Amino acid sequence: MIIAMDGPAASGKGTLGRKLAEKFDLAYLDTGALYRAVGLSLKRAGHGPEDADRAAHAAKTLDSDLLNDPELRSEQVGHMASIIAANPVVRANLLAFQRDFAHQPPSGKAGAVLDGRDIGTVVCPDAHVKLYVSASDPVRARRRLHELQAKGVATDYETVLADLLERDRRDSQRATAPLKPAQDAVLLDTTELDIESAFERACQIVDQWQRS
Ligand code: CDP
Ligand code: CDP
Repeated sequence: MIIAMDGPAASGKGTLGRKLAEKFDLAYLDTGALYRAVGLSLKRAGHGPEDADRAAHAAKTLDSDLLNDPELRSEQVGHMASIIAANPVVRANLLAFQRDFAHQPPSGKAGAVLDGRDIGTVVCPDAHVKLYVSASDPVRARRRLHELQAKGVATDYETVLADLLERDRRDSQRATAPLKPAQDAVLLDTTELDIESAFERACQIVDQWQRS
């Protein structure tokens, strides 16, 4: 079973994806981490995200140690990732890894959950279950603000909201693999749902597919 989870930043797709993977004993891949790792490798080497050739090379020779680096989750690296993610060569260089993960999941798991922006549309158009997770802009900004404050990052609601909206705009307007629901995706709006209620709804959608 392949489950594709797409949606904008802080909609809850990562939290739901991890919980679904645990419940259904599937491997889990946060594909945003791959784009972030490319961003972080450029940052560490002193290059900007617009350096298309260096980004393409970093994506081809991805340093997997960076996937566990605490700086991966910073807002600056998220910002760099969304600029890099518009580069079609970067996307092409990360595609095989994601597809292999989905179709031959590690540690003998019977399937995989992948979360990102283009899983249901480009990476795994053949996914068995496709969820498009969303939430209103203010709710997503508040969630991200809480996460940053819990990490001790000094920021405020207006800054976080502006960063999220800028990233959403870039992700949905790029020419290659823009953020959008697949035609056969089930929409899951988590604006009014806490994690447990959203998870319950996601499980129902997976159960429905399993019974069909
Ligand atoms: O992966 P994505 O960026 O879409 O979001 P996430 O990392 O799963 O969730 C962002 C934050 O929102 C986390 O701190 C979650 O605990 C929280 N969250 C929530 O409060 N309610 C939900 N229904 C889903 C997530
Ligand atoms: O956790 P959050 O939702 O803030 O972002 P992320 O999932 O870590 O993704 C960071 C950036 O990588 C996104 O803003 C996208 O530009 C890019 N990305 C993408 O283009 N395609 C994916 N499948 C996953 C992420």
